Amino acid sequence: MSQTVSRKDEHVRISLEKDVAADHNYWDDVKLIHNALPEINKNEIDFSTKLFGKKLGAPLIIAGMTGGYDKAKKINENLAIAAEKYQIGMGVGSQRAALEKLELKDTYSIIRDYDIPLRFANIGASQIVLWGHKKTLENAQKMIDMIDGHVFVICLNFLQEAVQFEGESNAKGCFDAIKKLAEDLGTPVVVKESGAGISYNVAERLSKTKISGIDVGGAGGTSFAAIEHYRAEIRDDKLHERGGKTFWNWGIPTPTSILEAGDATNWKLPIIATGGIRNGLDSAKALALGASCAGIAHALLKPATDSKEATISVVDAIIKEIRAAMFLVGADKVSKMADIGVDLWI
Ligand SMILES: Cc1cc2nc3c(=O)[nH]c(=O)nc-3n(C[C@H](O)[C@H](O)[C@H](O)COP(=O)(O)O)c2cc1C
Repeated sequence: MSQTVSRKDEHVRISLEKDVAADHNYWDDVKLIHNALPEINKNEIDFSTKLFGKKLGAPLIIAGMTGGYDKAKKINENLAIAAEKYQIGMGVGSQRAALEKLELKDTYSIIRDYDIPLRFANIGASQIVLWGHKKTLENAQKMIDMIDGHVFVICLNFLQEAVQFEGESNAKGCFDAIKKLAEDLGTPVVVKESGAGISYNVAERLSKTKISGIDVGGAGGTSFAAIEHYRAEIRDDKLHERGGKTFWNWGIPTPTSILEAGDATNWKLPIIATGGIRNGLDSAKALALGASCAGIAHALLKPATDSKEATISVVDAIIKEIRAAMFLVGADKVSKMADIGVDLWI
C-alpha cells in the first residue's frame, strides 16, 4: 500500500487497538464435510506444498503487512523466525517507504537473515502507475533485492485509496502497468487484493497477462475501510470517518473470490486465499475450495508485536489445526484437499 511512514505505523496500531474486521467472517459459511471413516494416519499427513517452484513445509503464507518504521523491524523479524521454523512463505508490507528513505531498508531486509523458502516483495498498484514502466522495473528490482524476494506482489488497494484523505484514486493504466511488469520483470508477479476480493471478470483479465498467481485478498477479515474510518476519527475528519463506516463491509467474500478467480483462470494459476483466515480450520476450508495456500495477516499481527515465542506458538497451533482438519476429512496430502466435500452457504 502506498503510505507515508506514520501511516504505516498507524495501520498497525489501529489494527491492534480497534476492531477492524468486517462484520461477518465468511469462513463461517463454509463447512468441511466430516469423514467419520478417514482411513488415514494423522501423523503421516504430508503437508508439503510447492508454490512458485519453492517447497513449503505447510500450505501457509504470512501475508505482507509491515515495514517502513522503527517498530516494524521487530514485527517482521518475529514473523520471519516463525516462517523459517515452519518453512512457510512470508511477505512484507509495501516497500515504498524504504525506496524513499534508505535508512528504513532494514525494517524489511531483516527477513533476509532467516531461511524462508518463499519471500514476497510488495508495492501498491497505484504506485506503479505513477512511476511508469521504466522506473517501476528499476524499483521492483530494488525491492526484490532488499528482501531477496522470490515473488513480486502488486497490491490492489483501491478501496483504501477511495475512502482515505490522501488516497491516490487514479486507477487508469493499472492493468497495462501490471501486464508490462509481468512481461519484463523476470521474477514471478502476483496480483493481490487487500481485503476487497478479486471478481471473475478481473481474474479473467489478469489470466491473459503473464502474472504467476493471484492472492484474492477477499472480504471478511481486515477491512481497510474500517482502518481508514479510525484514522479519520483520530483527525476529527467527519467526512472520511463516515466514508470508512459506509464501506466497512465492501468487497467480495474470500471463499467466493477463490471460486470466481479459480473458475475464471481454469485453475491454471495458483490462488492464494488471504482475507479473514483466523486459524487452521479456515485455512483448510480455503484449500478445499481450491486455493493452493492460505494467507494470514491480522491473526499474526498481535503475536508478532508481542514476541517470537508468541508468534511461533500461534503458527504452530494453526498448522496443527490444518492437520486435524485434513485428518477429519480424510485427506493425507494437500493436493487431495480440493477433492473433498464442502458445504457452502454464502
Ligand atoms: C496492519 C496491516 C497492514 C497491511 N499492509 C499491507 C501492505 O502493505 N501490502 C499488502 O499487500 N497488504 C497489506 N495488508 C493486507 C494483508 O496482507 C491482508 O491482505 C489483509 O489484511 C487481509 O487478511 P487478514 O484478514 O488475515 O488480515 C495489511 C494488513 C494489515 C492488518
